[in-house]
Amino acid sequence: MYRQGCLGFTSQAKDIIQENMSQNRIYMDYNATTPLDPEVIKSISEALHEAWGNPSSTYTAGVKAKKIINESRENVARMVGGKAEDIIFTSGGTEANNMVIQSAVEHFKRSRDGTECNTDHSNGCPGLPHIISSNVEHDSVKLVLEHLQKEGKADATFVPVSTVTGRVEVQDVMAAVRPNTCLVSIMLANNETGVIMPIKDLCWKIRSLSKRRSQRILLHTDAAQALGKIQVNAPELGVDYLTVVGHKFYAPRIGALYVNSPGTKTPLHPLLFGGGQERNFRPGTENTPMIAGLGKAADLVTSNLSEYESHMRRVKIYLEGRLKLVFKDKLHFNSHFQDSEILPNTCNVSILGPNLQGWRVLSGCERLLASVGAACHSDMGDRPSHILLNCGVSESVAANALRLSVGRGTTEEDVDAVVEDLERVRSVP
Ligand SMILES: Cc1ncc(COP(=O)(O)O)c(C=O)c1O
Repeated sequence: MYRQGCLGFTSQAKDIIQENMSQNRIYMDYNATTPLDPEVIKSISEALHEAWGNPSSTYTAGVKAKKIINESRENVARMVGGKAEDIIFTSGGTEANNMVIQSAVEHFKRSRDGTECNTDHSNGCPGLPHIISSNVEHDSVKLVLEHLQKEGKADATFVPVSTVTGRVEVQDVMAAVRPNTCLVSIMLANNETGVIMPIKDLCWKIRSLSKRRSQRILLHTDAAQALGKIQVNAPELGVDYLTVVGHKFYAPRIGALYVNSPGTKTPLHPLLFGGGQERNFRPGTENTPMIAGLGKAADLVTSNLSEYESHMRRVKIYLEGRLKLVFKDKLHFNSHFQDSEILPNTCNVSILGPNLQGWRVLSGCERLLASVGAACHSDMGDRPSHILLNCGVSESVAANALRLSVGRGTTEEDVDAVVEDLERVRSVP
């Protein structure tokens, strides 16, 4: 079933979940989004009832709202190892990623005073800010960079991931650095393969290089898929910015940006201008209930991460074992790479053979709810995921890919039912 009595879910939780899901369906698309934890729903509901006031007001409902926001900020900061003042609430991950990139461009412009391009473009345009990213990023990084390039406002290099490890290799990023590089933005874990990127090593290398340059290179990681699944500590990683996405760890659709001392140690420029909230970095009257939910979800992660992680890992290992047993050599794991660490919940797999394209298999499943790749590419129909292709998976194997991502409540019985489902679909002529 979607959720069966583990990891602190109450019977009330089960009821809520079952109300929201049709019977007998098994959700394995936790990398696309997660349901809200019942404790998160409770926090949101309390905030809606009791903290509806404008957080800038001085009467009770406003003061209560302010208090909730401050507590949530502390909880989110604790989850990522930062200080409360390092957390800026945003609408979600897309906004946080946009804010980092636009901020780095603005900072470059201000500190370079808009130096004109010269005519030698062999090393890119030295007057333009240059940003390094990878070829497996989420669209909220990729498309911003492509847009800036198209508009002539920035240069970007998308470093290809290694087809052996599925990772962005540190030496490849270092080789892409130019005199005008102002930002390196690489995700902490990939949403389709679950591959964990070497962000700590990368930050260390970039920081050593930055010391020898007049302009430092800012470091960003999009931790959307890592939070709630593996330990994430921004200062230990060495990043300047880290993106937090609530709906990937049982919080509502809201996000936050960790910035190491925004405006002092780390430049941060707003995308929006308005009423001064979030110290002017992200104005707009705060969304107290959703912030309350994010704070509660962050607190749950801080308290229970090792339990969540080991549960998901155990279930995923069981899933992969069952798949191997049933499909034998007619199976390819697109999330197995030499020497790479993978998220504990992510299994990207192709059942090999004609007419077994991912979308076809999923549409034949009676119980499994999963996806063939990133939710934002769901309109790509039967075209194979460019992320998998960039990781070296062949077209025909990538076309059959299923992204199975388990959650805190997925059970071995769920796995058995899903594998049965897949076996049945495979044997349908
Ligand atoms: C890696 C990654 N980054 C960013 C996002 C975007 O976050 P949001 O949906 O909150 O805008 C997602 C969500 O799918 C994601 O998987």
